[in-house]
Amino acid sequence: MIQKPNKKTNRPLFSSGPCAKHPNWSITNLDISVLGRSHRAKKPKELIDLSINLTSEILEIPSDYKIAIVPASDTGAFELAMWNVLGPIGIDVLAWESFGKGWVTDIINQLKLSDINKIEADYGLLPDLSSVNSDRDIVFTLNGTTSGVKVPNLEWISDQRKGLTLCDATSGLFAQRVDWKKLDITTFSWQKVLGGEAQHGIIILSPRAIERLNSYNPPWPLPKIFRIKKGGLVDDAIFAGSTINTPSLLCVADYVDALKWAKEVGGLTKLIGIADNNLKIIRDWVDKNEWVSFLAKDRNTVSNTSVCLQFSLEDEVAKYIDTVHFSKSIQKKLEEENIGYDLGSYRDAPPGLRIWAGATIDPDDIRILLSWVEWAYLTVLKEQ
Ligand SMILES: Cc1ncc(COP(=O)(O)O)c(C=O)c1O
Repeated sequence: MIQKPNKKTNRPLFSSGPCAKHPNWSITNLDISVLGRSHRAKKPKELIDLSINLTSEILEIPSDYKIAIVPASDTGAFELAMWNVLGPIGIDVLAWESFGKGWVTDIINQLKLSDINKIEADYGLLPDLSSVNSDRDIVFTLNGTTSGVKVPNLEWISDQRKGLTLCDATSGLFAQRVDWKKLDITTFSWQKVLGGEAQHGIIILSPRAIERLNSYNPPWPLPKIFRIKKGGLVDDAIFAGSTINTPSLLCVADYVDALKWAKEVGGLTKLIGIADNNLKIIRDWVDKNEWVSFLAKDRNTVSNTSVCLQFSLEDEVAKYIDTVHFSKSIQKKLEEENIGYDLGSYRDAPPGLRIWAGATIDPDDIRILLSWVEWAYLTVLKEQ
């Protein structure tokens, strides 16, 4: 019998979205005084405004950038961006995992744009960032949630670029520092690093993005939930709490609670520090165990939020079990023991485990989880 570790995780929550809430979260801490009121009334609007201002403060967004809450989570925010600004010039679109590949599909098959340069790489790798042409629009993902591969920095984007950068940053922001002057349109949803609720997206626009929006009208029809212009110009009201359609004030209250927690613990530097430390714990463990490795091939690109791991099986074992089944069996054991939920790799990604290591995750829980992964690995091996 393989000895089970004697400690259990305090919170078995390691999903890559919706992610675990912050450690002191309680529904009774939310400011629910606005519930049941119109989102256009003064007090609810102030709460929405507060969420935008705290976002700006914690993410250290330049004061000339604009921030709005938009419908349909990160997907809604990113689609809104693509549908509003793409088309006038050629596009370099980067993809190295499922979500990035989805943006490629939408640009080609839905918007039917033709001057597209696809710069792709397989799971575990990053495409050649140096081949990107900053005279064109650039569409990319900051952190590939399904492969655990992040861009290590944004230095490959020119400060003198002619095109716009569109960055899907949903699983990186609040855990990875970005150089805002490299980003023109950035999107994320609340459900990731801060453990907020899904279905609300945030879009962050640089002055150059606003310029494009004001000067360009796409040839295709725009659904109402993507329309952010009034009288031909971007409607400033959306940056001051007047959302396109009705937001959930409960979700806004929850997001404000998460932002206040983020501020209390020490702001962006601290949030990044927690995620980096969680990754270090996993890295030290991976370095000690030759049967497990990061899906990310380059150490500089290993994500500190969605950490994707692979198991290697000796030939003798591989005769009896494939890696998909093996990884699923490990995942099942961790769930049955209430040690870790939702650890499976994404459906399109190579088999393995995916551990969310963002700022709401306690390092002790990561340590305890890893001891159980070892137990589960040995137990599943023995069962073959
Ligand atoms: C990189 C990336 N983009 C987009 C999405 C979609 O986000 P949402 O479900 O918030 O629309 C996800 C969700 O995991 C993601 O990881």
